[in-house]
Amino acid sequence: MSISDTTIVLVGLMGSGKTRVGMELAKLLGMDFVDSDTEIERAAGMSTVDIFEKFGEPEFRSGERKVMRRLLSEGKKVISTGGGGFIQDEIRAAVKEKAISVWLKADLDTLVERVSRTGHRPILKGGDPAAKLQELMNIRYPIYAEADITVVTDQRTPHDMARRIRDEVEKVLQARGKNNS
Ligand code: S3P
Repeated sequence: MSISDTTIVLVGLMGSGKTRVGMELAKLLGMDFVDSDTEIERAAGMSTVDIFEKFGEPEFRSGERKVMRRLLSEGKKVISTGGGGFIQDEIRAAVKEKAISVWLKADLDTLVERVSRTGHRPILKGGDPAAKLQELMNIRYPIYAEADITVVTDQRTPHDMARRIRDEVEKVLQARGKNNS
C-alpha cells in the first residue's frame, strides 16, 4: 500500500500542533486534510465552546464518535483529532483498525505556551491551564502511547514535522507489507 492510499490520524493534547502539522503533512503527500473538531462544529452548526456550554461534554463526545466513524470509513486522508478523540475506546479501536496513528508528543511548557495564544478550549476554561494540562498528561499520555508512531514536537517547524512523519509512516507501511507477504 502506498502512503497516499493510507489514512493517517494525528493524536495528542491540545496545543501539540495536530492541525498545523496535519495540514502540512497533507500538502506534502498531496492528500486531503480534515480536522475532526471542525467537522463536529459543522454538523452541529455551532462552535465547540457552544456545544460544551449548551449540551455538555457527553454530547460533544458523542458527536466526536459519529464524525470519526464517518471520516475513517471514507479512507485516504490526513485527519487531525481533538485531544480527547483517541482517548475514547471506540474511536481508538477504529483508528487502530483503519488507519496509521501518530502521536505528537509535546512537553508541558510547549503546550502551555501554545494554548495561551487562543481562548477557544472549553476544557481549559476557568482554571490554571498548566495544572489542567499536567493532569491530562498524566491520564492521557499512556493512552496516546498506543499510537503506531510517536513524534516529539520540540522546536521543529510544521514542515520538518511533516517530513519526519512521512518517513515514519513509510517505515510502518514497509513493516506491515513484510509481515503480510
Ligand atoms: C479537547 C480538545 C479540543 C476539542 C475539545 C476537547 C480535549 O481539540 O476537541 O475542546 O478533550 O482535549 P484540540 O486538541 O484540537 O484543541
